[in-house]
Amino acid sequence: MKNMCAAVCALAALCAAVRCGAAQTDVERRVEETLSRLTFEQKLGQLWQFSGGHPSEAASSDRSKGALDPKFLEAVGAGRYGSVIGKRGVSNYNAIQRAAMEGVGIPLLIGHDMIHSATTTYPIPLAMACAWDESLWERTASAMAVESLALGCNWTFTPMLDVALDARWGRIAEGGGCEPLVTGLMGAAMIRGFQGSDMADGLHIAACAKHYVSYGASFGGRDYNAVEMSDSTLRDVYLPPFKMAVDAGVATVMPAFHSFNGVPCSMNSYLLRDILRGEFGFDGMTISDWAAVRELIRHGVAADKADAAVLALNGGIDMEMVSDCYVETLKSAVERGRVTMKTIDDAVRNILRVKFRLGLFDRPTLDADALAKAIDPAANRALARECARKSCVLLKNDGALPLKKGVKVALLGDLSASDWQMLGCWSTRDLSNFENATLLDGLKADGVDVNYVEAYTLTGRVDLAAVEAAALAADVVVAAFGDYWENSGEGNSSAILELKGGQMKVAEKVKSLGKPLVAVVFGGRPMAFLGLAKTADALVMAWNPGGCGGWGIADVMTGLAEPWGRLTVDMPYATGTCPLYYSRTTTGRPAAITAEHPFGKRYTSCYNDAPFVALYPFGYGLTYTSVKYSGEKVAVEGGEVVFSADVANTGAREANELVQVYVRDEVARIVRPRRELKGFKRVALRAGETKHVEIRVPVSSFGYTLNGVRAVEPGWFTAWVAPDSDSGRRLRFELSAADVASR
Ligand code: GLC
Repeated sequence: MKNMCAAVCALAALCAAVRCGAAQTDVERRVEETLSRLTFEQKLGQLWQFSGGHPSEAASSDRSKGALDPKFLEAVGAGRYGSVIGKRGVSNYNAIQRAAMEGVGIPLLIGHDMIHSATTTYPIPLAMACAWDESLWERTASAMAVESLALGCNWTFTPMLDVALDARWGRIAEGGGCEPLVTGLMGAAMIRGFQGSDMADGLHIAACAKHYVSYGASFGGRDYNAVEMSDSTLRDVYLPPFKMAVDAGVATVMPAFHSFNGVPCSMNSYLLRDILRGEFGFDGMTISDWAAVRELIRHGVAADKADAAVLALNGGIDMEMVSDCYVETLKSAVERGRVTMKTIDDAVRNILRVKFRLGLFDRPTLDADALAKAIDPAANRALARECARKSCVLLKNDGALPLKKGVKVALLGDLSASDWQMLGCWSTRDLSNFENATLLDGLKADGVDVNYVEAYTLTGRVDLAAVEAAALAADVVVAAFGDYWENSGEGNSSAILELKGGQMKVAEKVKSLGKPLVAVVFGGRPMAFLGLAKTADALVMAWNPGGCGGWGIADVMTGLAEPWGRLTVDMPYATGTCPLYYSRTTTGRPAAITAEHPFGKRYTSCYNDAPFVALYPFGYGLTYTSVKYSGEKVAVEGGEVVFSADVANTGAREANELVQVYVRDEVARIVRPRRELKGFKRVALRAGETKHVEIRVPVSSFGYTLNGVRAVEPGWFTAWVAPDSDSGRRLRFELSAADVASR
């Protein structure tokens, strides 16, 4: 019977593969058919994403409500555009697609940045990453896909897969943090959610892996700035999330604005052709970032738009976003032999392939009623609330949390009562879907006896008398700190991560009154809040928790939900210690923090005025109970290394522990990180419960790249099975030549 089942499964898999192969062949046939009937001008049209205004403008002015310009629709019908950005609304979508199908006969990709919100606003990606939950990431993207279609968008420029080591970089808000494995798993899960198993089923949209590649390593954490790095670092840190995205079937890829080792990503054929297509096997389409093709002139590598178009197209960019270098200059470039018709045809093929895979030719218009039926707003808000619960991180708790029943709470600060500030750097800025999402509303909804007094704003006025009066009338003070979401995200690199304004005056005032202080920190990046960490009795990193964030954060603060989140970035002691990341390499003079040397010993790799380590490290997060690890072991079994431990909940409340596995290659041909995450597992533990946890990691995971070759070498490794990247008992294991050969 067992053999019979195996045979049936194998046959089913074979049939699926044959079906998939047949479908792919059919797509290629239709691509060629379509390409063969296009004029040269219509081919150039496919290479252009026309802007109906930048998304942020469109969202606020919401052009979707205005009728489309007839001249625009005429151009659509003539095949002037392969895609548009900045147009929204199903009626606009259908008008555009009808014009296209009645004219050139090629539907458009209609793109938008549905990064962490469509109609429902979820926590920013950096917050979502702290959930360490692939199912949550996929479910959220899937819900956003349908809402995106209902907003007239069939393509989102998400997931952002930039590994970010530097909190000064404002776009750290948009990705998974400093760890390639977490960033890649979140990106792949989001791609599965956005695209589904069948992208053409009318409920899914095309995703876009961006910004390819290493944008998070820009010098000084400054947006758009240059990046220089070794091939090993590129391949072992920054490329892995994009490889995982390609393996997950991502439909499109967007190169980054910056120059990589002197060659802008928008023309970098080593990245776009040799690696992305040659090594990774990507066969979707690439689109430049906003006017990045024309920016090649400012980079100083193109003399004019004609040069820029030639460099970008030959470098591997299929579609130009917004700027018009391609449509204006490629005709003469072909005549002068600077680009070949084959290069142009191949770019058009890549774009048509995505459109066929997305089902646009077979279903060019949207059915607003069917989409409305497919969306459950209440379920999406419940999902957004779950996301907020799971993405906030409890960093400190001297017992002030969870808030006890009947306790009188003074709630302070402008962010505590702001639904707008629960949003984030890529929210659709659409307040229509809010339902009492502020922290004040959340605490009230959870039955807390709360008295709200603004008393201060983050960067402006501070009324210490109001702080004192409110605090004295309460048992506990809850106060909002951090930064406004408008100060993170694109174009928001910061040189000062310390808390601004009079925030610390508020914290010190509360402390001076002897009242417990629960600090809730909102913001889109790691901040340097050492003073607050010392002063507060409890500290919650709430990030930008989304349109239902106030509910979710309050659920954790009242104990309705257990703390779940774990950091995917390091929190710095001071801005000057950035870039700060747990996976830093060893040095010839490794520093150590000791009682005698609180910043590290002189003549070792440290600072003389601040600790070079994290205030709160990657992987860290508290629960309302206590979890103990024992019996940690590691064993090499065939092609895997098996890490295990007994994990006991020794407290009185349940917990969802995140067991993490870190390793260090003790001797290699190049310096290696002091620790690298190699695996993790969530474990639900009832009060008093102990579980034996096993995490299996393939031997192939223990390699590194040198001179373009990734290899696993025999030798000794140190390992930790731990609750974060700074703790755990040292283990050791050896990979023999036989183990390496067997992988
Ligand atoms: C931008 C961003 C990119 C976004 C694009 C379209 O400048 O860099 O992430 O997708 O414009 O809005």
